[in-house]
Amino acid sequence: MTTTSTGPLSADMEEWDDDLHDRYPTQESAGEHKFRDYAAEVRPSVREFYRLNHINQTYDFARGKVEQYGGLNHKRMGVWEAMEYLNELVDDSDPDTDATQIEHLLQTSEAIRADGHPRWFVATGAIHDLGKILCLWGEPQWAVVGDTYVLGHPFSDKIVFSEFFADNPDSNKPEFQTPTGIYEPGCGLENVQMTWGHDEYIYRVARKYLPVEAQYMLRFHSFYPWHREGAYQHLTNEQDREMMRWVLEFNKYDLYTKTDVRPDPKALKPYYEDLFAEFFPAVIDW
Ligand SMILES: [Fe+2]
Ligand SMILES: [Fe+2]
Repeated sequence: MTTTSTGPLSADMEEWDDDLHDRYPTQESAGEHKFRDYAAEVRPSVREFYRLNHINQTYDFARGKVEQYGGLNHKRMGVWEAMEYLNELVDDSDPDTDATQIEHLLQTSEAIRADGHPRWFVATGAIHDLGKILCLWGEPQWAVVGDTYVLGHPFSDKIVFSEFFADNPDSNKPEFQTPTGIYEPGCGLENVQMTWGHDEYIYRVARKYLPVEAQYMLRFHSFYPWHREGAYQHLTNEQDREMMRWVLEFNKYDLYTKTDVRPDPKALKPYYEDLFAEFFPAVIDW
């Protein structure tokens, strides 16, 4: 498949990433806008993105997507090849200011590498958003990016724009509205149904090749309601609580390494081909 998706498709995706910076600014940038009201300042297109995400991500929808993609029978390709494939997703409307997908991946992984972290961590940084290839297969933005959260459970008011959940059909299912929904307290995040998106997909593609810390980084990197807002504590187990610090460590690089120095994929390719060969077969299932 060689569909090239351009323009609005990826522009929306960038908007969610940009919005995260507004919501979780660095200390320095927060100081510049002391009394800002996040919800009031958010752009209408971003608000609409959250609305679509919140009304359409239902328990049945997410289970259906796991069924559809969990078998990993959509494509076979190497990891570097997947990075180039994802890079077809470019925003034509603004080619100069935003980093391309591959640049974001390499910026993240290069910052992790520069801090002397283990090689599996660098590899994780380099692949963490490859699940966005779902966009190239026609999946709508709201089913690829956005904060992730637990389904089959009351929608947490810690989720951004949680008021939109009033129009999600799951809000009317009594079995989902008990304090822990369909789950046992402390059941562990591996046993809950998360929303479907690029995180869950790349986790499923890469999980058998990387350590558990990396699996948490991949699967939960957009789970802001948990790792930044403290929601869902009652569902977590000891492993989740232990692993959260790795997710937070990763989040630092994902959110805050946008720099003006653009990484050079061509120059970096040999290093990454070696790195990937250490963890992955030459070709893997997507
Ligand atoms: Fe991501
Ligand atoms: Fe990212």
